[in-house]
Amino acid sequence: MLVTIADVLSADEVGHVRRVLEGTNWVDGRSTAGDQAAKVKNNLQVPHDSTVAQELSQIVMRALANNATFTSATLPLRVLPPMFNRYDVGMTFGAHVDGSIRSVPGAGVRVRTDVSSTLFLTPPEDYDGGELVVHDTYGTHSVKLPAGHLVVYPATSMHSVTPVTRGSRWASFFWTQSMIRDDWCRHMLYDLDNSIRSVRSRLPDDDPSVVGLTAHYHNLLRLWAET
Ligand code: NI
Repeated sequence: MLVTIADVLSADEVGHVRRVLEGTNWVDGRSTAGDQAAKVKNNLQVPHDSTVAQELSQIVMRALANNATFTSATLPLRVLPPMFNRYDVGMTFGAHVDGSIRSVPGAGVRVRTDVSSTLFLTPPEDYDGGELVVHDTYGTHSVKLPAGHLVVYPATSMHSVTPVTRGSRWASFFWTQSMIRDDWCRHMLYDLDNSIRSVRSRLPDDDPSVVGLTAHYHNLLRLWAET
């Protein structure tokens, strides 16, 4: 399931993040890639242990914690600190699947990457190329969103970033371990949650249909969740 979420960061927040990133130091993105991915990866990243990365990471984490759609679509158990990357002209990331297990820097905690996320930080009209291309069981999706918008997709998906041919594409990217490991189960819970919201907009909260569907949602979550 691929879900796009509008306005995770406000225009002011995007502006602040971009201004801070303009003055920072970027390093070769291969430093955080596994063996196969490193061979097809050509971009720049902010070192995750830098003060800048930590400050900006907190801004994104706060925005995610307040976003009901992100919570419903990913059912997060742990979110790895968001990182920041850029693709200048000629930079690209060939087909790969993200590493399955990552460590939380400095915390000694390992996280299974169930959901991959990209938060776009450059307006699409400011660069050409740089589409995130995700291959899943439903086909190929090409994703290029307004600044401040987010896409989440199963970390099991093969994906790539097409070469940038004009401008520079900046983004934040991160992984989530979900309480629901299986993408299809997570997808069904997301659909059910959306249907419940729709029913609740037309019926009172004590209507037996609303109560019954909400109970069903929680009982499925209880059955499937790993916490
Ligand atoms: Ni990737």
